[in-house]
Amino acid sequence: MWFPFLHDMFEAGNKGAIGVFDSGYGGLTILDGIRRRMPDYDYIYLGDNARAPYGPRSFDVVYEFTLQAVRKLFQMGCPLVIIGCNTASAKALRSIQQNYLPTEAPDRRVLGVIRPTAEVVGRLTKTHHVGVFATDGTIKSESYKLEVKKLFPEVTLTGQACPMWVPIVENGEYDKPGADYFVKDSINKLLEKDPEIDTIILGCTHFPLLYDKIRKYTPSHIALIPQGHYIAESLADYLKRHSDMDQRLTKGAKCQFFTTESSQKFSENASVFLKESIEAHRISLT
Ligand code: DGL
Repeated sequence: MWFPFLHDMFEAGNKGAIGVFDSGYGGLTILDGIRRRMPDYDYIYLGDNARAPYGPRSFDVVYEFTLQAVRKLFQMGCPLVIIGCNTASAKALRSIQQNYLPTEAPDRRVLGVIRPTAEVVGRLTKTHHVGVFATDGTIKSESYKLEVKKLFPEVTLTGQACPMWVPIVENGEYDKPGADYFVKDSINKLLEKDPEIDTIILGCTHFPLLYDKIRKYTPSHIALIPQGHYIAESLADYLKRHSDMDQRLTKGAKCQFFTTESSQKFSENASVFLKESIEAHRISLT
């Protein structure tokens, strides 16, 4: 299906909106951070809700699904796509940047969320012991460990997979008492592994919705890092350094939402993440 407003965006030379992709709703916390920082730009959000969660899926499948989404956002005219999902950033970003872009779309750019998050930990930790909560897939990929090691060799990073947290958020249970057990359990497991941790990355875009509970059960001297703000700062810095890309981005303060699931369901749930009502369109990636 083709949407007339996309035609408008696409026809404006080779200019277009910033694409933001996530397996589902989580990337809305990234979109929210970016829009607050850069409200004048146009955005297209794409959630692959029909196939979420990506956390337990293999590298090959996450790569295939993520590439389909990136291609779709390119077809919609986006010169720049942010993979606003840690799992997809961990399992697909590098291959897309190194294998797909150079031959298939050399004038487009795809950025992820792990590197910009890793960049901030060095200046926040005093003990040089950092933790990360993420999906099983992100922890097993060791992407945070590798990025942090490259940037801050003196930092010890310890990961904790929280497989129940995404389903809790997706099912609207993030502010219910049942969530407390799973939040406490993962915090205890992480701090048992490394009691010297003074900074914890919330390395999954769903986790900001559990922020109040995570804060409640985490000792107060430990800083928590949700990603939206830092990704937005990093993107603003990127566009300052790449004015050629900045000039290719349309600035009409429009935001469009697409999902591979029911548009009504997405519109209802997305408003919980964004605290505003939106209207989504259903789209197919295959
Ligand atoms: N939003 C994804 C992330 O940041 C997690 C959801 C999923 O497993 O699909 O890792």
